[in-house]
Amino acid sequence: MRKPFIAGNWKMYKTAAEAEAFAEEFKKIYAPSDVRVAIAAPYTQLWTLRKAFEGTGIGVAAQNMHWEDQGAFTGEISAPMLKEIGVDYCIIGHSERREYFAETDETVNKKVRKALSCGILPILCCGESLKTRDAGQEKEFVGAQIRADFAGIEAEDAKKVTVAYEPIWAIGTGRTASPQQAQDMCAYIREVLTELYGEDVSEEITIQYGGSVKPANATELMSQDDIDGALVGGASLKPADFLEIVHF
Ligand code: 13P
Repeated sequence: MRKPFIAGNWKMYKTAAEAEAFAEEFKKIYAPSDVRVAIAAPYTQLWTLRKAFEGTGIGVAAQNMHWEDQGAFTGEISAPMLKEIGVDYCIIGHSERREYFAETDETVNKKVRKALSCGILPILCCGESLKTRDAGQEKEFVGAQIRADFAGIEAEDAKKVTVAYEPIWAIGTGRTASPQQAQDMCAYIREVLTELYGEDVSEEITIQYGGSVKPANATELMSQDDIDGALVGGASLKPADFLEIVHF
């Protein structure tokens, strides 16, 4: 049985002081349940959150990492560096990184493999643009992303990956995919994972939906068979809103 997993993605929002204030407020209202919870924060806030969430069970996630352990890569952060400060997860291949920072399926795949080898759990993002959906090619596109991003990953490791389906047209637009559209694609992603790893493995893989998730639509999205959680942008910035989604 897959456990629901709700992760907040703060993107490039919140200073360390603001992150600490969020954590203090969130801890007051949060009661652990059988929902897995994590926050993906900017690098400089990861340690602040690690300390603030100690003993709460709330996970800490980075939003990106490099695929090498170390090297002449000015401005980059590696998986062992994240692991050292107790980071649990890393978002990999977010559409904003693919669009603005030239991430490709090849670099995404290298990063997913490195994260797994360092004990960091990847939250692997996929999703199509509006143009691709309007052309009716969304499944072909997302299927190709999944196949390329999982290349060379063994079944035992594949189970540790969370896939986040985030249609680009639904991110930050207020235009959520309908529960049916989201379910259809998440079921298709599971079908591709079944092809790659067999049903026993694909049934264990957590698949999140992301794109304008808010308290008002979380319950319906989460009640779909193949949607196991949410990757939440804007609505994760306020403790009360994020908590409502965690309690979907
Ligand atoms: P919004 O929830 O703000 O649409 O962002 C979604 C997202 O990109 C999460 O990674």
